[in-house]
Amino acid sequence: MGRDRIDAYLQTHANDFEEQLKALLRIPSVSAQPAHDVDTRQAARFVHDDLAAMGLKTEIVETKRHPLVYAERLTAPGKPTVLFYGHYDVQPPEPLEPWKSKPFEPVVRDGNVYARGATDDKGQMFTHLKAAEAWLKTVGELPVNVKFLIEGEEEIGGENLEEFVAKNAAKLACDYAVISDTSQFAPGEPAITIGLKGLAYFEIHVEGANRDLHSGTYGGAVANPLNALAEILASLKGPDGRVRVNGFYDAVRDLDDSGRKAFADLPFSEEEFRADLGVRETFGEAGYTTLERKGARPTCDVHGLWGGYSGDGPKTVLPCKAGAKFSFRLVPDQDPAAIARQVRAHVEAHAPPGVTVELISHMGSPGIVVDVDSPGFRAAVKAIEASFGVAPLFIREGGSIPVVGLLKKHLNVDTLLLGWGQNDDNLHGPNEKFSLADFHRGIKAIAHLLDELSRTS
Ligand code: BES
Ligand code: MN
Ligand code: MN
Repeated sequence: MGRDRIDAYLQTHANDFEEQLKALLRIPSVSAQPAHDVDTRQAARFVHDDLAAMGLKTEIVETKRHPLVYAERLTAPGKPTVLFYGHYDVQPPEPLEPWKSKPFEPVVRDGNVYARGATDDKGQMFTHLKAAEAWLKTVGELPVNVKFLIEGEEEIGGENLEEFVAKNAAKLACDYAVISDTSQFAPGEPAITIGLKGLAYFEIHVEGANRDLHSGTYGGAVANPLNALAEILASLKGPDGRVRVNGFYDAVRDLDDSGRKAFADLPFSEEEFRADLGVRETFGEAGYTTLERKGARPTCDVHGLWGGYSGDGPKTVLPCKAGAKFSFRLVPDQDPAAIARQVRAHVEAHAPPGVTVELISHMGSPGIVVDVDSPGFRAAVKAIEASFGVAPLFIREGGSIPVVGLLKKHLNVDTLLLGWGQNDDNLHGPNEKFSLADFHRGIKAIAHLLDELSRTS
């Protein structure tokens, strides 16, 4: 089975892996910004070439926007098939000022590599590639059939992936799906993520008069789009932290005793949580703990607001337009399309007179929870124990990974969410980082997982 030889390969090549990861991190593959379209293409090419070089049948698949990479090696007849998913695209690095080193010039400090995409998801995704490489370069073969699907539109909630998965359901068919794009519970406390939230994302545009006006001359006589927007946004959530959209909670399953116990049993310190974030108190839906709010309750947040004047000094303007972006995180059984209809009805009912309101509903994804009582799950537990030296905790995450819902819907497969990140990795923020020790432990865990899965059927 060759585990010793594989572990030795991982050790001798640890430095090479780090250098290769840094090369990938130097490519500014920001999917949201069209100016970086050549870079997303280059990142796809990088992933393609790495997979092709280790002997997988690899292709770059064009989509309407950023290409995706598909690779397979189906040379283990009678053995299970494992589909690995990851994303090579990254969030915009802005604002640049708080970065201690440049976002696309990876630097190692205190055992962490700092760069945009270090943890989300280049570093984590790369653990799958290097684990496969270790098998192929030592044993010469993989113990299971593998497929890789690495996309470039995860961070923009791209709609092209669903089309690809739907059209290629037979090609992608698998017994297990594996994603490393989540976090551990804490340093030294690896975790398997058993739940993710869904997402329903909106943009709102509010318009009033046909031009900006003097707020003294016209104020009080003409509706102010910014005031109107504030009213609409404030109506979404009550002071008790509950979403006030009609029907929003209809499908939400309340936590049962065992669900609550699972959260209560996790080694979590409310005080450390507050201290880390520099907040005096936490805030959320009444009646739930912080971990329950983060992992198992739907939420509503505003992400950006614009309109009027926010430059230096005062300007007494009555703006003619205003806008905002906001979203709801969803839990299992909440249907993003139904939520979008409810939010539209809510906004229409709460728009004050005198303004026109346009609501744009961006694509949504459903929340998920996976069954822990499965052979794949038990294999993952063993693989993580073998690599990290401790058994993983089972956690529910507030983040969203839309492909998990797609794999369930189109391939009827539950995903093993084996994340190597840490909560303070600053994903999406300045100074994103990834622990190199976790990087190597992740590679080893995946290498062992392939072996464990080969003994399931
Ligand atoms: N890797 C994250 C999701 C994530 C973050 C999982 C933290 C667990 C912990 C993913 O790349 C991401 O950012 N997802 C977006 C949704 C997407 C549709 C833009 C998110 O959760 O906001
Ligand atoms: Mn990610
Ligand atoms: Mn992300």
